[in-house]
Amino acid sequence: MKITFIGAGYVGLVSGAMLSSLGLDVTCSDSNYDKIQALQNGHVPIYEPGLNECIKKSVDAGRLRFMCRSHPEPGSHPALDAGSSIVFIAVGTPSLESGDADLSYIYDATLRAAENHDKDTLIVIKSTVPPGTCQKLQLMLRERGFEHEIASNPEFLREGSAIEDFLKPDRIVIGISSDRAGDLLSKVYKSLTDKGFPILATDTTTAELIKYASNSFLATKIAFINEMANLCEKVGANVEMLSKAMGMDHRIGSAFLKAGPGFGGSCFPKDLLALSYLAHEHNQPCHVLDAVIFSNKNRSAHMARKIQDVIGDLKGRVICVLGITFKAGTDDVRSSPAVAIINILTELGAEVRVYDPEGAKGGMELVSATFCNDAYDAVLGAEAIVILTEWEEFKALDFRRIAGLLVGKNIFDFRNILDGDSLKKMGFNYHKIGMPVCNRVA
Ligand code: NAD
Ligand code: UGA
Repeated sequence: MKITFIGAGYVGLVSGAMLSSLGLDVTCSDSNYDKIQALQNGHVPIYEPGLNECIKKSVDAGRLRFMCRSHPEPGSHPALDAGSSIVFIAVGTPSLESGDADLSYIYDATLRAAENHDKDTLIVIKSTVPPGTCQKLQLMLRERGFEHEIASNPEFLREGSAIEDFLKPDRIVIGISSDRAGDLLSKVYKSLTDKGFPILATDTTTAELIKYASNSFLATKIAFINEMANLCEKVGANVEMLSKAMGMDHRIGSAFLKAGPGFGGSCFPKDLLALSYLAHEHNQPCHVLDAVIFSNKNRSAHMARKIQDVIGDLKGRVICVLGITFKAGTDDVRSSPAVAIINILTELGAEVRVYDPEGAKGGMELVSATFCNDAYDAVLGAEAIVILTEWEEFKALDFRRIAGLLVGKNIFDFRNILDGDSLKKMGFNYHKIGMPVCNRVA
């Protein structure tokens, strides 16, 4: 089966590469010429573990190719994706000022898909879009005389574990209006459903809401445990034990109960805002959702206050930040809590030195800080280390060496990844999340 992806970002590129690895013939297209040129030259423009190797294998096997319709090149001409049974739309749906999702890329890509493919090609929205969008897109095409059918197939992969998530999904959700669309999408995922991974077919609006509700529920778990962590600090309880014990109740589950500096990334924050906007628009506010948004928004300032509480006025003080990506295993810094926290620290007068194994390129544009080549360089002359991303390599740092470089001896481990007992033995003032607060300035 021949398929095309419009949008070769995290979702389009990973999904396209994975479907080609399952034997489908895939063309990934994008309006960003530089991105496509890099892919055509064998460079993968994002960091996602294992993706380079998968893409190379499929390209070498002739099952995966890249094209930019606005810049036709030899090997990248519009005819390449002709005859596709399905066009997946995987373009961005960022937040508008109002919080609503900006669907301009979706409308543009859908129209282009209809213009360039015959009426039997199924157009499938893989991007996260508000409930009702597929119906509106269908209407838009009908008004312009196009007969293509629109279906929904939201994506649930996570950055950093995208390949595993795509190939071993908890469920595949499809929103369809005809048996034909259901049959086509079932064929796409046949090799996964044959292995026992379930596929759920529903209407397009329900499929769209399943995606938003799932992200919102996961974000709610995180906001809840973060608030419990705050309470633990006040009453002298231990959030790690709390989270472990709560998670052992199978009705609650242990996933997404790790307290940290707040949730970030290109999806949770924007998707919660879009769902909240939609709920208010329908005069049916989701108060829980609004509370989660509020709680997470305040988390960065809360983290900065924890540092101030210990070391006092930050004016002119050097702070070493380890980790700027929104989580480990990715180079993505979009809506990263680390970016927000660094910006607060610099606003308070601190001089921030940052090290992140993958996030420097994206991070440099978002903060006024000095980016260093490694953690030891970043620590030089600093008053405190603040860990904001849970990179494995931070656990393996030589803290005896660091003790000689760090002036203030303070370590704020906002991901709770280090061995606090041994650090305290080495003479550090170690602070983690959700533990009784100590070492406050008077
Ligand atoms: P992204 O920004 O990484 O990629 C989007 C790509 O679409 C960009 O390369 C952009 O150049 C391209 N594009 C925009 N308009 C285009 C057009 N008209 N024609 C061709 N290309 C066009 O975004 P992403 O992270 O891949 O997210 C895409 C969608 O998937 C969003 O709705 C997001 O919420 C959803 N999603 C993302 C993830 C994730 O982990 N990033 C997971 C699940 C769902
Ligand atoms: C999330 C969802 O997990 C995916 O299912 C979904 O497809 C995707 O959003 C999307 O729609 O884009 P992702 O943003 O890649 O995936 O990353 P997550 O692992 O979900 O982490 C999101 C944020 O929550 C990160 O900042 C992470 O550090 C934080 N988090 C996560 C916690 O603070 N505690 C946890 O226990 C888990």
